[in-house]
Amino acid sequence: MNKINRNILAALLSGSSLAATGGAVADDMMPEEKSLSALEYELLGRDELWTYKALDSYSEPAFMSELVASGALPPVKDRLPAEPLVHLTGAMADGVGEYGGVFRHVIGGRPEGWNWMAGQHQGWGGINMAMQECLVRTGPLWQVKAEDQSGPLPNLAKDWTWNDDRTQLTLNLVEGARWSDGDPFDAADVEFWWNDNVQDENVSAWMSQNGMGEGTSMDVLDDSTVRFNFVDPQGPSRVLSLAYIQGCPGPSHVLKPLHPKYKDGATYDEYRNALPADMVPPVVMGPWVPVDHRPDEIVIMRRNPYYWKVDEAGNQLPYYNEMHFKLTSWSDRTTQAVAGTGDFSNMENPGNYVAALEQAQKPDSPTTIKFGVRVLAWELELNLSETVGVNDEVDAELRGLFRNKDFRVALSHALDRETIGQSVARGPFMYPFPGGFSVGSPYYDRDSTVYYGYNQDKANAMLEALGLVDTDGNGVRNMPQTGADAEIDLVYDTSEPTDKKQVDAVTAMLAEVGIKIISRSVDEIEPVADSGNFNIISRRHHWLIPTRQTCDYVPISVGCPDWHPADDDGNRNLFPWEMEMVEAVDRIQRTWDTAEAAEAARTIQRNWTENVYTIGLVQAPGALLINKRVRNAHPGTPIYMYEWAEDGIVRERLWTAAGDQLTELFEGELPAY
Ligand code: GLA
Repeated sequence: MNKINRNILAALLSGSSLAATGGAVADDMMPEEKSLSALEYELLGRDELWTYKALDSYSEPAFMSELVASGALPPVKDRLPAEPLVHLTGAMADGVGEYGGVFRHVIGGRPEGWNWMAGQHQGWGGINMAMQECLVRTGPLWQVKAEDQSGPLPNLAKDWTWNDDRTQLTLNLVEGARWSDGDPFDAADVEFWWNDNVQDENVSAWMSQNGMGEGTSMDVLDDSTVRFNFVDPQGPSRVLSLAYIQGCPGPSHVLKPLHPKYKDGATYDEYRNALPADMVPPVVMGPWVPVDHRPDEIVIMRRNPYYWKVDEAGNQLPYYNEMHFKLTSWSDRTTQAVAGTGDFSNMENPGNYVAALEQAQKPDSPTTIKFGVRVLAWELELNLSETVGVNDEVDAELRGLFRNKDFRVALSHALDRETIGQSVARGPFMYPFPGGFSVGSPYYDRDSTVYYGYNQDKANAMLEALGLVDTDGNGVRNMPQTGADAEIDLVYDTSEPTDKKQVDAVTAMLAEVGIKIISRSVDEIEPVADSGNFNIISRRHHWLIPTRQTCDYVPISVGCPDWHPADDDGNRNLFPWEMEMVEAVDRIQRTWDTAEAAEAARTIQRNWTENVYTIGLVQAPGALLINKRVRNAHPGTPIYMYEWAEDGIVRERLWTAAGDQLTELFEGELPAY
C-alpha cells in the first residue's frame, strides 16, 4: 500500500475529513487544506524530458524487421527523421521499455470521423490524442519545474524564435518526419491547416480564426520553417495555442484534394465528412493508427510504422503494438479499470471514490490508484446579464439581485460546504471551492482568495438588508419590487450524480434562508449554458491554467463566459472588476516574466472570489487508475492540468514486460494503406 492511500484510508476509518482539519483561520480566509496527494517526485528542467538528435542506430519490434527484410517496409532509419525526437530515460519512471502487447482504454464518446482539421472529434478519452500530433505539447508540463514554465514543450515544432520586438514567431519544424503512410510531413501541411482550415470561415476548425490573435498572419519560409506575424508584441503563452487540440495539422496530401477550394463542386459538408469513422486506416502523425472500428463496440489501433519518436536506446516508439478503445460509458471506464479489464481511467466522479479505493486496497487488485491535487470543482453560475434570458419582470428583478454583490455574498454564506461535500462522498475528498482557480492550479494563491464561508445569521441579515422579507408568511422571502416569492430556476446535468447530490444539498440550505430553488435537469448542459436562457446553472467547472480555454471563464470576448452573455447587438454591462480580470489575462498573454504572470493570476483570483463571480461549492482531487502491468506511468501524472492525463502520461513511452503482455488481436500487422 502506498503512502497516499494509507492517509486516505486512515481518514475514512476515523470518520474525519482531512479538508476540515487545521487551526482557526480569519473569517474570510480559506480553511487549511490538506492535499490527498502525498506523492513526492522530482520536477525536471524542460530540456530533460526530450530532445532531438541523431542516434548511432535504431531498432524496431521483431515483426517489423521481418517486414523490412521482405521488402514490405523501408528500413527503420529511413522511416525516421534525421534527428528524431528522443524521449530521455531520466524522465521515465521505469526506464527504457519492451516492445509488444495491448493498452486498453474504455471511453464514453464515439468517433465522429477522422477529419480533425474540420473540427471532428474522434470520441475523446485519448483517442483524438493518439492520432493527432500538434506543433507543441502541454500535457507533460506537470513534470517541469516552476522556473522553466515558460510556454509549451516542443513537438512537431522542435524550437522557435522571436524577432526583437516580439511581433514575429518563427517555428522550426522537425525535418524528415513522415505521415503514417510514408508521405513527408512539412510546412505544406502547416500551411494547409492554417490557410484552408483555420482561416477559412466555412470550416469550423478547432482553432478559431482569431485563435493566434486578431490580424495574425502566417508565412511559409521554407519546407521546415513557418512564421506567424502578429499585430502586437506577444509572449510565450501565445505559443500555447498551438498545442492540442488547436494546433494539430492534418495530412494535406489526403485532405487538400478533397477541400472545396481545390475540388470542383465539393461542398464544405462533404469536406468535413470526407474521412468517415468507418473508413480505416486514416493517415496520422500519432503513435497509433485506427485499423478497425466496430460501432458501439471498439476502436482498435496499431502502431504507426513511421512514428518519429525514439527512446535513448534508439528504439522506435511506441512500445505497445496495439491500443484498444472499448466504446461504452465514462463511468464504465472507472469500473473496468478497477476490475482490471481496462488499463486506464481518469476517476472524476467522487461518488465512486470510496468503492474504488476499497477495491484497489485488496492485495490482488490489478489496479493502482493515485490521487493527485484538487483539480475538479463544482459551482453555481448566476446569470449576470440584464437582458439575455430575461422573460418577465420577475426575471428582471432576479437579475438585479444577482448583479448585487451583497446578494451573491449572502448566498455564499448560506451554504455549508462541509455538508455539501459529505453528501457527495464521505471522507476527506471535498474541500470548499471559493471560485476562480482550483487549489491544484499552479496559479492558485490562498492569500489572494476571499472566502464567504457558512454563516446563516449573516446570510439572513444580508438578505433582509436587501429588502428580501417573507411578507406573506409562506417561508419564502418576497422580492421588494415585484413582491414575488424569491424562487429561482436552476439547471443541472442529468447524467452527473455528483451534480444532483450537490443541487439537493444547495436547495435545502437556501430554503433555510428563505430562497426557493426550482431545479430542472437536462441531458446536455452545454446548449443551455450557451443559450444564456437560465437564471442559475450548477455544474462541474474547473480552471487551472489561465491561458487554457480562457473564454470559458473570463469575458475576453462577447460570447463568454456563459453566465455573462452579451445580447444580439453585442451589448452587456461588465463590472469594473470583470474588466480588471480581462486586463490581467492580457498581461499573462504578453508577459515574459513568470512573476508578472503569477501576479496577474492573483488579480484574477482576488477579483473573482471577493466579488463572488460564481458561487463555488466544493472541489476534489481526481485520481488516476492504472493497471499494475503498465510501466512508466509516472505516479505524479495529474488527471488534468495543462492537458488531460492521456497526454500528460506520455503514452508512447508506456510499456509492459513481455511476460505480462496481453495478446494482440492484429498480431504482426501494420496499418494497410
Ligand atoms: C473526456 C473525459 C476526460 C478525458 C478527456 C480526454 O472529456 O471525460 O476524462 O479522458 O475526454 O479528451
